[in-house]
Amino acid sequence: MNETEAKARAVREMFGEIAPRYDLLNRLLSGGVDQRWRRLAVREALAKHPYRVLDVATGTGDVALMLKRGCPQAEVTAGDFTPRMLELARAKAQKAGLKINFVEADALALPFADGSFEALTVAFGFRNFADYQRGLAEFYRVLTPGGRAVILEFPPPRDNLLGRLYRLYFNGVLPWIGGVISGKPEAYRYLPNSVENFPQPEELAQMMTETGFLVRYRLLTAGIAAIHVGDKR
Ligand SMILES: C[S@@+](CC[C@H](N)C(=O)[O-])C[C@H]1O[C@@H](n2cnc3c(N)ncnc32)[C@H](O)[C@@H]1O
Repeated sequence: MNETEAKARAVREMFGEIAPRYDLLNRLLSGGVDQRWRRLAVREALAKHPYRVLDVATGTGDVALMLKRGCPQAEVTAGDFTPRMLELARAKAQKAGLKINFVEADALALPFADGSFEALTVAFGFRNFADYQRGLAEFYRVLTPGGRAVILEFPPPRDNLLGRLYRLYFNGVLPWIGGVISGKPEAYRYLPNSVENFPQPEELAQMMTETGFLVRYRLLTAGIAAIHVGDKR
């Protein structure tokens, strides 16, 4: 097993373990603001009225559900490589009466033909990819020309007062609460580490530009989250 495969396997196992408490912890740890960030990302994804939309690394499916609600006539596909996450997402969609096509899919080798979607989203999933360039290349490949990729992520905290306070919360309080509620403290120690190691917003924008996207981004809630929008040329 090479390094990329080993990272992917560790990430899949970790999300499988925390899946049952994932939604509860998201709401608790973000004070509910995570859903507002997702809604803003969905608005960007639906802005050009896509017909076929893909939610990559869908987890428990929150973004996929918002996409379908926001554009009922669109065909929404949602993929993730952690089966337990997909089970929860399927159950949520069924309960909400929303028709979404859920597929087990690795973002680094998407099981879709070139040009299959007019828009795609990935919320808090991109950071976990073992190879960012490969993920972006896959996004570019499965989009139609003019298609849109929307990435919602946590950039590393900035080195100012707010950034330092946030880092304190992220490195101290969050792993503690996450550990107690999920019973998997290592997963909630992984979260701040993965955020610290993630590229700054301008670096991610540069990577997307190099892939071929026309890029813009905006920071949300004093820079705690960021939305990158890339249009395929
Ligand atoms: C933090 S959760 C985010 C889930 C959801 N998008 C949300 O907004 O809450 C990250 C998800 O990314 C998935 N993931 C990470 N790497 C992946 C990959 N290479 N391919 C597919 N899914 C991946 C994990 O299984 C997990 O469900």
